[in-house]
Parts: sequence; structure tokens; C-alpha cells
Amino acid sequence: MNLNAEAKVITVDPLSPDRVILAKAGEMIRQGRLVAFPTETVYGLGANGLSAEAVRRIFVAKGRPTDNPLILHIASLNDLLRVACQVPLSAYALAARFWPGSLTLVLQRNKAVPDEVSAGLDTIGVRIPAHRVALALIRAGRTPIAAPSANRAGRPSPTTAAHVLHDLGERIDLILDGGETDVGVESTVLDLTVAPPCILRPGGITIEELKKVTGKVDLLGVEKQDSGPARSPGLKYRHYAPQTPLILVSGAEMVEKIIALIAQYKAEGRRVGVLAGEENSSYYKEADCVVIIGARADLTQIARNLFAGLRRLDAAGVDVLVAEIFDEQGIGAAIMNRLRKAASEII
Ligand code: TXA
Ligand code: MG
Repeated sequence: MNLNAEAKVITVDPLSPDRVILAKAGEMIRQGRLVAFPTETVYGLGANGLSAEAVRRIFVAKGRPTDNPLILHIASLNDLLRVACQVPLSAYALAARFWPGSLTLVLQRNKAVPDEVSAGLDTIGVRIPAHRVALALIRAGRTPIAAPSANRAGRPSPTTAAHVLHDLGERIDLILDGGETDVGVESTVLDLTVAPPCILRPGGITIEELKKVTGKVDLLGVEKQDSGPARSPGLKYRHYAPQTPLILVSGAEMVEKIIALIAQYKAEGRRVGVLAGEENSSYYKEADCVVIIGARADLTQIARNLFAGLRRLDAAGVDVLVAEIFDEQGIGAAIMNRLRKAASEII
């Protein structure tokens, strides 16, 4: 690992990545080094997914608990059986519809994949990302790439190379800067080792879209995510969290409650930041900092700006953050999942 020097940041064209740069980055992956790269969801922190030693470096760099498994990224369906086995037909139907794309399938693990990747589970999470830089890196590395989101454990996922540099700059070797990511929240994690299939994490592919292909789908309840034997170990940790305490405000009187909270915190001498949709922005003028992440009616835009918004508020030097809730339909399920996990309190 590159402990002293900052990671090298290299700009790449997201639509037509430079072959020479990608060949070098692929070589670094083969050497067991850590390369951050853009996917369509968020930036990933990549390492050779078939090397236990390289994968261990990911956990160290992120400060990630070793019982939280990583997703393997492949560039072609031909590579699926290098990482998984006993693949059900439903996986091929889902892959045909959603890959490349923001859907991670949990399948039986091929024993060629080191224990470190799956945190000892006999299953593996795998997806083909829909980003030319990610695909080019996997091809150049000639190996499946293990990659969690490229943030320090517990922090909001990175949607720009600058976020990655901020969190991990001194701990990784290279950052491929392909600009801002498109979806903004991570992939949907779908467990296909159970019947009916179970969504372990809502994400870029919506529950409504999945049901059209697989029929019945279960959604792992929030209660089950936070206690008992974890189906997806990552779910039991606090996530996506800004360092400043975040109060998530729900209910029909949301705007009124936020206005009252701002007044209360101000009276206590605390500086307040607000995360909101543009429809209500004019009501929050008394706050010290208001970050608008898009129109509430456009959940795609809210998802795209969510993590960057949380990071901006965290850097604003306020004492407490207050966030609006959003509609849970479509990608709203992923937005609200992330906000609930980021919140220190929900009122
Ligand atoms: O969009 C994404 O999924 C991004 C990009 C980089 O691909 N990656 C990502 O990785 O979000 P990470 O490590 O931040 O989140 C992976 C999630 C965790 O909740 C983990 O517990 C779950 O997937 N997961 C991975 N393998 C699993 C397995 N075998 N069984 C159950 N859950 C698994
Ligand atoms: Mg993550």
C-alpha cells in the first residue's frame, strides 16, 4: 500500500477511456494494488478479486469490518462461472434484462474465489457494471475485480473522484477520474439463493422493475437488517453517515417540523444545515446552510445528488443536520434506505 504519497488521480474519458491508461491500471490490478474507478452507481475501490492478499488490502484501506463481504465485478457473462456455481436460470433472466447495470446477484460461491471476498460466506455477490471505464479496467486486469464503494467505512459513498481522494487518497495507489457517477446510489443486492429471491439492499434497479422479471420478491425488513444473524452482514453497521448528527424528519407536517427545529436549534446557539428538495427550499431560509439535491418530484435527480449533498453539509461547519424524507416509490426506496441509515434520529 501507498501509505505516504497521495494516490495518483488520472482523468479518463468516461465514454472512450484511453487504452494506454487502462492497460497500466489493469497491470496495477494484476500486481495486487488498489485502483479506484467509476461505475454507473458510485466509485468502487478495486483489487484483484481472485487474490486473497489484494482483497485484504481493501479492508485495511477502508477500515472495513472483515465480516462484510465484497461484490465481484465482471465484464462478461462468460466470467460468471469463474466466481459462482449452481447458477439458477433466474440469474440468467435477470442478467439478460439488467446487466450491465445496477443489480448485484448473490449466488453460490465458486471455491476459486478467496474466503476474504465473501467474508467466509458460501455465497458471492456479483455484477456487470454499466460504465465503460469499469468494464475496460476489468478487461485490462483480466480478472474479476472485488470492489466496495470507495469511501472510508461508514461514510457516504463517493460519487466523484474528489470524494475518493478525500477519504482514501493516502491509502490507495490510483484513482481513475471519469467524472460524476450517474445513478448516485449503489446497486440493488438480490439474494437468489433463497425462494422467493430477497432484496438485501434496495438500489439502482427498482423493486418494481425486478418483479417484472422474477415475479415475487421479498424485501429484507429493516428490523431484520439491524438485529439477529445477518443475511447480508454489511447491513448491521451504521452507514452513509455524515460526521455531523443528522435528524431525518418525516410525516405530513414535515416542512413545519423542520421550520420549528431550525428555530429551536438556532435559539440554542447551534448552527443548522438542511438537506432538502427544491420545492421547499424557500421555507428554510433561517438555516445556516441549505443544500438542495434536486426536485422532490424527480427521484432520479435526488438519488444522483444525495451522497454529494451529505458530504457538502458535513463540510459546511454546522452543528446539526436536518433532512427531508422522500417518496419511497421506485428509486425512492434506495434513497430512504440510505437516509435512514445515515440518520442519528428519525422524528
Ligand atoms: O453499486 C455498488 O454496488 C457499488 C459499486 C462499486 O459496484 N459497490 C458497493 O459495494 O456498494 P459495498 O461493499 O459498499 O456494498 C456491498 C453490499 C454490502 O451490503 C454487502 O454486505 C453486500 O453487498 N454483499 C456482498 N456480498 C454479499 C453476499 N455474498 N451475501 C450477502 N450480501 C452481500
Ligand atoms: Mg459501501
